[in-house]
Amino acid sequence: MNQSESSAPLWEAVVKYKENGIVPFHTPGHKLHSGVFCDLALHLGSDFLAMDASDELDSVQHDHRFERVLDQAQALAATAFGAAGTLFLVNGSTGGLHASLWGESGQVVIPRFSHQAVYSAALLAARPAVYLPADMDPVWHLPLPPSVEQWQSVLSGCCPSAAVITHPTYYGTVSPLADIAAECRKWRCESIVDEAHGGHFRYHKALPGSAMESGADIAVQSTHKTMGALTGSSMLHCRVGARRERLQNAVQILQTTSPSLPSLAVLDYVRSIWQAQGEEIMQSLWELARSARHELQRIPGISLPPQHADPTKLLFSMEMLGLRGFDVEWILRRDYRIQVEMSDHRWALALLTVGDDNESVAALLEALGDMAVRKAIHGPPIQHGTLVWPDLPEPACDMRYAAASPSVKIPYRNSLGRVSASFVVPYPPGVPLLVPGEIWNKDLIDHVEKSLAEGWHIRGIDQEKAAVLKDKHDF
Ligand SMILES: Cc1ncc(COP(=O)(O)O)c(C=O)c1O
Repeated sequence: MNQSESSAPLWEAVVKYKENGIVPFHTPGHKLHSGVFCDLALHLGSDFLAMDASDELDSVQHDHRFERVLDQAQALAATAFGAAGTLFLVNGSTGGLHASLWGESGQVVIPRFSHQAVYSAALLAARPAVYLPADMDPVWHLPLPPSVEQWQSVLSGCCPSAAVITHPTYYGTVSPLADIAAECRKWRCESIVDEAHGGHFRYHKALPGSAMESGADIAVQSTHKTMGALTGSSMLHCRVGARRERLQNAVQILQTTSPSLPSLAVLDYVRSIWQAQGEEIMQSLWELARSARHELQRIPGISLPPQHADPTKLLFSMEMLGLRGFDVEWILRRDYRIQVEMSDHRWALALLTVGDDNESVAALLEALGDMAVRKAIHGPPIQHGTLVWPDLPEPACDMRYAAASPSVKIPYRNSLGRVSASFVVPYPPGVPLLVPGEIWNKDLIDHVEKSLAEGWHIRGIDQEKAAVLKDKHDF
């Protein structure tokens, strides 16, 4: 590697192409300027379009083929994240998870509290899934990732060739990843970590260990979520170089042949900044997040979960003041022009990243302090504990078969005993209650009813209707 770690070769090549002012007779059709689409320059900035070249970078320096510069950038990222190989992605961690399961066979262990992308990865790769049931903390109503003992039990009870471990969950909860990865190795099961929300873990000692440091085989990170890359840009890391070939083939098959150059270049640039200054960035962010948490705790009526592995995910509840997480999100937006990352019937989650500073956090704290004294928006304290995550439904047929079979839409309340043709997924957290091929039961119908009444958005339920297999007696 002769590139210095602080350089960003792909970013620099794209900037150079823009600066060279080459007259483009190539895609994209906007020809690197806004032309008739004048609002684009107004809102995106003319430089953004000038950098949205296709892969013509070789015209800048004849020895700089696009793939070669991309390879250099990816190799630098591998070093930065302690991986043997890294691939840049423009289809999010979703694309990375799809590529991770693609091209191999055998069962995949999936904790039920996994993002929908994990299931769609198994579906695309035609790999049977073995589920670990979802556990919720009964007091705090936060997802509890499966324990090492639960992993031991599932790994010893079947013959899986891969396991997908979410680290951390959307709510910031984690499990002992190093022990789980070791357990997977014992059973020759590939450990694939959905680290969509944990790209920054590597840069602070007090944060949970990153997937690569914990001995996982593959890690997928949404660099766009916590590290500042453009939306959809992510990284796929692996620990053993040979695996990179397989992953690269999969990405080639699954990803567009026209990846957004600004997205790839920004990944490279963001990596260079984190690599050079990541520890200082994370230390300031850590202090900002700890102090925000401390200040939040002092506001009467706000409660926080007792320990939280990642303080940058500022999770809080105002249910003592009669406000559900959904209400908090809505009032913050309507009255204070603040938008949190997500909310549910109980919690609101404000995400703090490298993009925050004292001012943004002060605005949030001030707004919440104000909400805590606005008696007019308060109600009686909310008693929770009723929304229990339902048990695993019975499978009727293969997920892939069901997703591709003829279906009809019926009122979900009439779906008892019918086989789901689609994913039924409450957002947040994007975790399916039902996957294609599973049978609707009474608990699920009740759960959907309660969730909709609470204000949950449920993908897969459209105007109170759900898609089920057309033929009632298929199985
Ligand atoms: C736990 C988890 N994994 C994977 C994903 C998919 O990530 P992306 O949006 O980068 O495709 C998400 C998205 O929110 C997620 O929450």
